[in-house]
Formats: sequence, C-alpha cells, structure tokens
Amino acid sequence: MADTTKIVGAGSAGLAQAAAILRHGGLVAFPTETVYGLGADATDAKAVAALFAAKGRPAFNPLISHVADLDAAEGVARFDRRALAVAEVLWPGPLTLVLPRPEGGGPVCDLACAGLETIAVRVPAHPTARALLQRVGKPVAAPSANRSGRVSPTAPTHVADELAGSIPLILADGRCDVGLESTILDLSGPVPVLLRPGAVLPDILADLLGAVPLSASQASESAPKSPGRLTSHYAPILPVRLNVTAPAADEAFLAFGPDLAPALAKLNLSEDGDFTEAAANLYDHLRSLDRTPGASGIAVAPIPDDGLGAAINDRLRRAAAPRDTVAAS
Ligand code: TXA
Ligand code: MG
Repeated sequence: MADTTKIVGAGSAGLAQAAAILRHGGLVAFPTETVYGLGADATDAKAVAALFAAKGRPAFNPLISHVADLDAAEGVARFDRRALAVAEVLWPGPLTLVLPRPEGGGPVCDLACAGLETIAVRVPAHPTARALLQRVGKPVAAPSANRSGRVSPTAPTHVADELAGSIPLILADGRCDVGLESTILDLSGPVPVLLRPGAVLPDILADLLGAVPLSASQASESAPKSPGRLTSHYAPILPVRLNVTAPAADEAFLAFGPDLAPALAKLNLSEDGDFTEAAANLYDHLRSLDRTPGASGIAVAPIPDDGLGAAINDRLRRAAAPRDTVAAS
C-alpha cells in the first residue's frame, strides 16, 4: 500500500520506474489497448496478494498473465495447434487465451491462477504495455485497474479515481482505443469456448478454429468455467436500466445513434451509431453519468446486438444486473 500515488508519463524514465516497481513486488497501473490494468509480478504470490487487496477482489477470481510476445507466453502455458493458430494471427491484440498450465504449474503463482489447472494469458498490443512487459521480463498479472466489480478504467484519471492512495504508480498514456476488456477464448478443453465477448469477434475466431466457439452460457450448461463471469459486474453506483427510448425525468441518459429524447443529463456513445466509437466511450460515459446530481438512475438506449454491439451489451447487462450477486473484477 502507498499513501501517495505518482502519475508518470510513458517515456523511458516512467517505463524504467514502473518496471523497477513491478520487479520488486510492487503494483503499477498501466495502459493497454483495452482498459488500464493493475499489474503485479505474476510469479510472486506476495505481490499478487497485494494486488487482490488493492482491488478488494475475491481471491478465487483468477487473473490474466500479460507477456511481451508468444515466446514468453509459451513459457507460462501449453499451446496446442489451435492455440498457436489463433495466437500467431491475433497477438498482439485484445484477445486472452485460457490454456492448460505447464507440467508442475509453471512460473506463474497458484494465487494468480486461483489454483486452477489453466491460465489466462494475453499479449497486449499497446506499445507502452509491450515496452513495459519487455523491461519487466516476467509475466505480469493484471486485472482491470478498478475496485472489484466497478467500471473498468479507460483513462489515467479513472484509475486515479479508483486507486489513488492504494498503489505507488500510474503509468499514464492517454485513453484506451478499444475501451472494452479483451475477448476471452478458452482453449483448455476439446471444445473452444468464448468466455467473454470483446473486440476480437467470434467470426474471426471461427475462421481460425474452423468452428464457431461455444458461448459461455452454452458451455456452462455442462460446467461452470469462468469464475469471473459473475452476474453483477462493471457496475456504476446508480442503478442501470436498459433498452430505454424515453428516459424518466430524473434519469441520466446514455444515448446511442441519432437522439432527441429530453433527459436530465445525456451523453451519446456514438451519434453515428458506430460500435467502435461506442465501445471506446462506454466506461467513460457511465462514470460521468454516474455523477449526475439528483439522478435516480442511468437509462440506456437500445444498442443493436451484432458485431461489437454484442460485447457492449454484455457489459451493459452486467452493469444493470441485481447487485446482490458478488461482483468480481
Ligand atoms: O482487457 C483485459 O483483459 C484487461 C486488461 C488489463 O488486460 N484485463 C481484465 O482482467 O479484464 P480482469 O481480471 O478484469 O478479467 C479477467 C477475466 C476474469 O473474468 C477471470 O475470471 C477470467 O479472466 N479468467 C482468468 N483466468 C481464467 C481461467 N484460468 N479460466 C477461466 N477464466 C479465467
Ligand atoms: Mg475487470
């Protein structure tokens, strides 16, 4: 824990400072193309324990190990031909693979994997994330840099709002291009399963795998797979109501596409109805509307469920879910 949190830019001095903290078991928030992550040395159980404490996250929820390239990924997970085919084309990028751990577990500590036989691994595309991972030279466990269950951060100010005072350093490098957490594809079993939708869409995975991956809900009929996929998640403080075309007088409104509805406060995800723009704006707009004085809730316009729209709706459904389920990441 740190009393003061430094925010440094992503030049070589900032990168060196961030890498040194991580190598010595400390915590650093850093940018990726999806959302800001809160990193800890994934091989150091004490560092990972401190990370869970800073996030207030239930320790049964496993973390993604971030590495600089496929070579490094092969040091922490077992890749079969399917996994190599996907990784060679889609890494670096907003895709996480769940794979079997090596014989004996490999270098990543059990706590980071929540004691599972599998590991989630990702090679991020963001140049600052890659430069940091290269300098650290070890896998970096990193959940989104928010308090557990809350909206993921897509800008350095969001990270500071959530974690200032509990971590020593934020490596700041602007807004995240994608704005939604990575697609998670589970290749640890015989049938590929899409555990979390994201910017890497099912079509491209189907092309590379030769079959459309099962959805998490199809797969969970046989076995619950991703402990992090608890229902209430990505939640603002205000209650969230979906598919609203006419917000109530005391609701803040998250619009999508051309919109003339009157509202107490309003932000538009994308006036042109562009999914990429909407994804990049989603968490920032939720955070802003959450602060509307006098608002009783956030009403959200309908968003078509195709392409990246499906990933946006996945996050919105979690934001709107009843809050009594444990929120996790
Ligand atoms: O875009 C992202 O993925 C961001 C950036 C920082 O990389 N990270 C992120 O981490 O979203 P987090 O911890 O918020 O979400 C990780 C998800 C959780 O839902 C967790 O349950 C799942 O990955 N996960 C991790 N290891 C797993 C495993 N072995 N099997 C199944 N799911 C796993
Ligand atoms: Mg998260």
